[in-house]
Amino acid sequence: MKASLKRVARKVLPHYRVMDELRTAQRMLEIRRNDATELEAMYRRFVMPDLAPREGRAAMLTSLIGTSVSEALYILYYLQQAMKVPGDICEFGVAQGATSRLMACEIINTDRKLWLFDSFEGLPPPGPKDRLIDDIFNLGSMEAYAGRMASPESLVLDKLREVGFPRERTRVMKGWVNESLKKPDLPRQVAFAYVDFDFYEPIKDALEFLDRCMPAGGRIVIDDYGFFSEGAQLAVDEFRAAQGARYRFEMPLPFAGHFCMLSKDG
Ligand SMILES: C[S@@+](CC[C@H](N)C(=O)[O-])C[C@H]1O[C@@H](n2cnc3c(N)ncnc32)[C@H](O)[C@@H]1O
Repeated sequence: MKASLKRVARKVLPHYRVMDELRTAQRMLEIRRNDATELEAMYRRFVMPDLAPREGRAAMLTSLIGTSVSEALYILYYLQQAMKVPGDICEFGVAQGATSRLMACEIINTDRKLWLFDSFEGLPPPGPKDRLIDDIFNLGSMEAYAGRMASPESLVLDKLREVGFPRERTRVMKGWVNESLKKPDLPRQVAFAYVDFDFYEPIKDALEFLDRCMPAGGRIVIDDYGFFSEGAQLAVDEFRAAQGARYRFEMPLPFAGHFCMLSKDG
């Protein structure tokens, strides 16, 4: 090859490679969106026949962080069921707000508020009941998880702005939840909550608070049941034991993920 041709090739080829990589990434995204659409259709057919569809959902399902598409579909399904009763929507443990955005779209055309509880400083130090059962980040101990999963509040607000969720219906409760739940400005009624705090104490605090302000017919999805920290399942099991038959407990299909649902009956 002539020297001048080689020079041109050196300049042009990297651009082709970048374009090629972009095309591949775009294609992968399309495949993931198609997968999410197909998975949603499958769940609607076999598990949740009345799950209402929503335009643009597949894109949001594929941009979740740490929440599987299956779990997200259960969240949406239980949230939709909870829309039969009055009350706001809460997320306890928000991180970057990918699941918050998904839930926000479900209530965008209502007057319900979205309450988002998070330290925005990541996980607290674990308590004595938080024994490590799945070392998800390979950190070697439960204590090493303190401060992990921190992300700024601004990321959450950006995501909600992207989908046009009204700022005046968004309540960001920044801080440790045991402190936030002592504040005077709290939801008076909660129809649906997604509890994703990972550890025993904050999950216990969230469930006890929800019990005080959730009407019959309300729904709660709790993440990490039997996963990551032993404390998550323990908090739910103790709550159920104390509440007796007032809550119906359900687990998802076995391959859907590690979470559980509570429906308030009485
Ligand atoms: C697993 S992440 C939440 C992920 C989010 N629900 C989602 O679906 O993308 C857990 C979050 O809980 C927050 N968190 C954990 N314990 C908390 C506590 N005691 N008070 C406030 N926030 C807490 C952490 O800051 C972290 O952002």
